Amino acid sequence: KEYNVAILGATGAVGRRMIQQLEQSTIPVKSLKLLASYRSAGTVLKFKGQDLTVEETAPDSFDSIDLVLSSAGGSVSKKFLPEAVKRGAVCVDNTSAFRMEPDVPLVVPEVNPEALKKHHGIIANPNCSTIQMVMALEPVRRKFGLKQIIVSTYQAASGAGQAAIEELKKEAQDYLDGKDMQEDAKILPTKGDKKHYPLAFNLLPQIDVLEDSGYSHEEWKMIHETKKIMLDDMNSDKIKVTATCVRVPVPIAHGESVYFTVEDKDATAQDIMDVIAKFPGDVLQDDIKHQIYPQPVNAEGSRDTFVGRIRPDYENPGAFNMWVVADNLLKGAAWNTVENAEYLDKMNLI
Ligand code: A2P
Repeated sequence: KEYNVAILGATGAVGRRMIQQLEQSTIPVKSLKLLASYRSAGTVLKFKGQDLTVEETAPDSFDSIDLVLSSAGGSVSKKFLPEAVKRGAVCVDNTSAFRMEPDVPLVVPEVNPEALKKHHGIIANPNCSTIQMVMALEPVRRKFGLKQIIVSTYQAASGAGQAAIEELKKEAQDYLDGKDMQEDAKILPTKGDKKHYPLAFNLLPQIDVLEDSGYSHEEWKMIHETKKIMLDDMNSDKIKVTATCVRVPVPIAHGESVYFTVEDKDATAQDIMDVIAKFPGDVLQDDIKHQIYPQPVNAEGSRDTFVGRIRPDYENPGAFNMWVVADNLLKGAAWNTVENAEYLDKMNLI
């Protein structure tokens, strides 16, 4: 079986990496169509050495397409993915548009691959910060049980798209040149809000919009997506989750400080390290004698999730701290999307 594949949002920070990840994947590609908005129609990008011209997206762009990989924003997914499904395609969507729909599987392939079987044409890729956290915690949950998660994130600018990386660089240059950074701030903390602040030499405790509950929408996603992925119930109280999400002046790769408690009070930090080291897709980087721990500059470009600084809370048996880093554009987005498609292919679900 070979597939006619389309990438929606092919010119974006994630879309370009989807092309790369698809090139290196086991998915048999018969043809590839690159889709974006009218703005970049005509742009030429390479796939397996071949020139492909980006096309403006329309409903009939999906005629005879079998597989869609999509990352062009929630409203674009809402508009076009139902059209693609109507025409017989299976879509893996990296936006938040369909994540909480009951009949849409939300999947990290190493964690809950069986959920893929329940798809009705759309599979959702979780939020980048949720993906790397469940990658680190799933082996712990399986062996020792999970009771509570308290996470603080250190999220890279690229989570807000390619333009946010450019914005950060411009601000940094202006700061060094002694100029005012405020006028450079046009996107962050989030395009969807009224005020914009510089990220260079700064920290922004807002990712996505702020809700009446007091939480940002990114924090809401981490709470409810984690429950849907691990427990198949976005409102389950079997694992308690709370989050603080912060944008940091790093271009690529998110860091997370994760505090968690397990049911098995006899579990040691070494036990936690052992199960994480064995989990596919996780790399343990925890050697304090040699100052080895995960860092964004080292994680950039890798499909893996890096975990370190694992240590017990000495005042609270069964509680631990750890530090998790992954490339938000790869495991957090493009690779997890392509990996979902690889599993769909192997499980005969396309
Ligand atoms: P375009 O290059 O034409 O603007 P990023 O997350 O890096 O900002 O990238 C967003 C991606 O989504 C780009 O490929 C962008 O294409 C695409 N996109 C944005 N709006 C639309 C739209 N209305 N229809 C199709 N693609 C879109």
